[in-house]
Amino acid sequence: MTNPSLLILPGDGIGPEVMAEVRKIIDWFGTKRGLAFDVSEDLVGGVAYDAHGTPLHDDTMARAHAADAVLLGAVGGPKYDALDFSVKPERGLLRLRKEMDLFSNLRPAQCFDALADFSSLKKDVVAGLDIMIVRELTSGVYFGEPRGIFEEGNERVGINTQRYTESEIARVAKSAFELAMRRGKKLCSMEKANVMESGILWREVVTEIGREYPEVELSHMYADAGAMQLTRWPKQFDVIVTDNLFGDLLSDLAAMLTGSLGMLPSASLGAPMANGRPKALYEPVHGSAPDIAGQGKANPIACILSFAMALRYSFDHGQEAARLEAAIERVLADGVRTADLMGPDDGTPVSTSEMGDAILAALDASL
Ligand code: NAD
Ligand code: IPM
Ligand code: MN
Repeated sequence: MTNPSLLILPGDGIGPEVMAEVRKIIDWFGTKRGLAFDVSEDLVGGVAYDAHGTPLHDDTMARAHAADAVLLGAVGGPKYDALDFSVKPERGLLRLRKEMDLFSNLRPAQCFDALADFSSLKKDVVAGLDIMIVRELTSGVYFGEPRGIFEEGNERVGINTQRYTESEIARVAKSAFELAMRRGKKLCSMEKANVMESGILWREVVTEIGREYPEVELSHMYADAGAMQLTRWPKQFDVIVTDNLFGDLLSDLAAMLTGSLGMLPSASLGAPMANGRPKALYEPVHGSAPDIAGQGKANPIACILSFAMALRYSFDHGQEAARLEAAIERVLADGVRTADLMGPDDGTPVSTSEMGDAILAALDASL
């Protein structure tokens, strides 16, 4: 039998730095747990532009389609800011999401006990927090037409269009209800039905799908109020489902509930294929962090937790995913911290690779 294939796209900035730690973890599962993957690497983002003049080469796109799972670091950076919009690093990532039809983006926000003191919110507000934001990822204002910058009279106008079809709303809603069924059976849908027609349709369709899931307690919230409630008392939520743009904002906000953007993983899933598995891309929520790139300061945990999500959602190794998450929890409980998890007077942080090594040692201790 052939091994499952994993395509790794480290990307730009801290992407390659955090991915190097994930490679160590993947090797550990290969040698110590017999989970062998056929791992290959390719370029995405600015580094792909440097090599090929495009942020995602067609060959790389084809390899992503063929892979059992794709793991991505981060894309973007100031070096590429002046590029034409069509070849910016971020376009490479958006093309991957769109062409692989990864409509359901799972962004869990879990507060590890050891970090509850470090959140910018009070400890009792975040301790024990475990919520899941499901962000629609292939439509909405990110992709709607018309779009562009046009001349209108004697000035320019920038246009983007929020557009959702019923089927696009229905499929992401279903994925959120399915997740809620396996979790706390509570789903909150967020839109702005008070000011946007797409929000009215969103609310109607989510309500219809909800009839197929009578066990799930469904609620609706305007997304602005949702942002407020997420900081007021986040533990009222279990699963949140929302559109592409609101999901982008709300998941960065949720990052601070967990202590750092360097802690947040994500899984972007498509519909199940013939083999029962969804097409899938796993990536940290954070970006290429140009301010700390190349300094060994990046926290690799978000990317390592993204690999744990791959073990769970693409490879049916939920127990091994839990082993990896427990190892991370152990390391944090032991006080090991990268700089993003410390205040200025909290002592000496560990480097990116030292954090990876500490997690490997905790994995060894788990055997
Ligand atoms: P960012 O997420 O890169 O950084 C925001 C802040 O968080 C920075 O201070 C950074 O140092 C810190 N941070 C992020 N990840 C960290 C980690 N793992 N460890 C420690 N600190 C971390 O967001 P930004 O600065 O707004 O964007 C920088 C570039 O990244 C832009 O080009 C943007 O488009 C791109 N971006 C890419 C992705 C992606 O590839 N998925 C996501 C977001 C932003
Ligand atoms: C994210 C990022 C991306 C987004 C950018 C880099 C295209 O912010 O994954 O959250 O806006 O979706
Ligand atoms: Mn974002």
